[in-house]
Amino acid sequence: MATFDVETARSKFPAFKEDQVFLDNAGGSQILGSVVESISDYLIKSNVQFGGGYKVSKASSSRYDDGITAGAKFLNAQKDEIAYGSSATQLLRNLSFTFPFQEGDEIVLSAIDHEANIAPWKSLAERLKLVIKSWVPQEGSTNPKLLPEDLKGLLSPKTRLVTCTHASNILGTIHDVKAIAEVVHTIPNALLCVDGVSYAPHRPVDVKELGVDFYVLSWYKVFGPHIAMLYASRKAQEQMGTLGHWFNSQVTLENKITLGSCCYELVQSIPAVTAYLGPAKAGSWGGLHAQETLLQTTLLEYLTSKPNITIYGERSADEKLRLPTVSFKVAGLDSRELVETLERTTNFGFRWGAFYSNYLVNEYFGLDASGVVRVSMVHYNTLEEVKGLIEAMDGVISKI
Ligand SMILES: Cc1ncc(COP(=O)(O)O)c(C=O)c1O
Repeated sequence: MATFDVETARSKFPAFKEDQVFLDNAGGSQILGSVVESISDYLIKSNVQFGGGYKVSKASSSRYDDGITAGAKFLNAQKDEIAYGSSATQLLRNLSFTFPFQEGDEIVLSAIDHEANIAPWKSLAERLKLVIKSWVPQEGSTNPKLLPEDLKGLLSPKTRLVTCTHASNILGTIHDVKAIAEVVHTIPNALLCVDGVSYAPHRPVDVKELGVDFYVLSWYKVFGPHIAMLYASRKAQEQMGTLGHWFNSQVTLENKITLGSCCYELVQSIPAVTAYLGPAKAGSWGGLHAQETLLQTTLLEYLTSKPNITIYGERSADEKLRLPTVSFKVAGLDSRELVETLERTTNFGFRWGAFYSNYLVNEYFGLDASGVVRVSMVHYNTLEEVKGLIEAMDGVISKI
């Protein structure tokens, strides 16, 4: 098993000087110091409109282009297959305005996704009079999974689009996206749109290997700045119109979907994130998994030992099955009350709620407005932090 030097990793994040334990990483991760420096350096040295022939404009163009190159490489995509935007929510909404589907065409929507990958498609269906088929996995389960075999029954020759999450921001359970893509592509011209926002901070993603048509992630959850990125394969782009001005090129995904340009100083800082994570093939992610597996094993051992706690998502800590985003509910204890009690007395930063997966939490699981308690860890969290949280929570839970 790969070893991991957590203190060296933490030294690269300026936020760890603060008196706060960061366990809300599925909401947003801490930012690398190298990213902050890159943004500042860009603004000081090259803050002009790119595309000009003068020296500083050339520097600006080149730095922005490096951001595109690094983002594409991160997903094993081509440069013309990615676009940056202010958020995953915005990019998916933009994407939904590019499809010229016909009345009566069908779209299959995962019911357990974050609303960012539901709302745009519902509104597209309303605009174009499409038929929505809801992909609701295993009613009554506390670990609903989007299984390729269940999808087969929802597809028809009229299916144009299927949506799913790689890993839900509540459940942390990893889906077999490659197998799902294979099923989707048994239908000619059907497209698969995957929400990778919760998955990307934890595992390297190879969009070609997965065989997806669209894949979205948010860099502010992957130790970077507050922007997001969408991948669309060249083939999938053939089915898209453009949102760009009529006189501009329509060759790249960025031409088609990014309105204006994405924030220059943030895009150009992405190489600092990818340099930190390293290429998947070089094995630098192995140590990250080892640390995360240690953390999730420790937390899940505690949670599964308590008969009055329901875990929502995979109960096993197996790194092939889940990520360290762990949600649960204590019987007889409001999730909000548990979190707020510890906020008053400790420095643990974690959350309660539905986290914009409102159908999943409030309808499918039938939980009230205070939803689940979510502890979302990443590789820079320490075993001591997780043990400390368990001790603090147990002080409240054992009194019930
Ligand atoms: C799984 C998932 N998808 C989509 C989003 C939306 O991302 P953004 O904030 O970039 O719009 C989030 C945000 O929390 C998320 O967790």
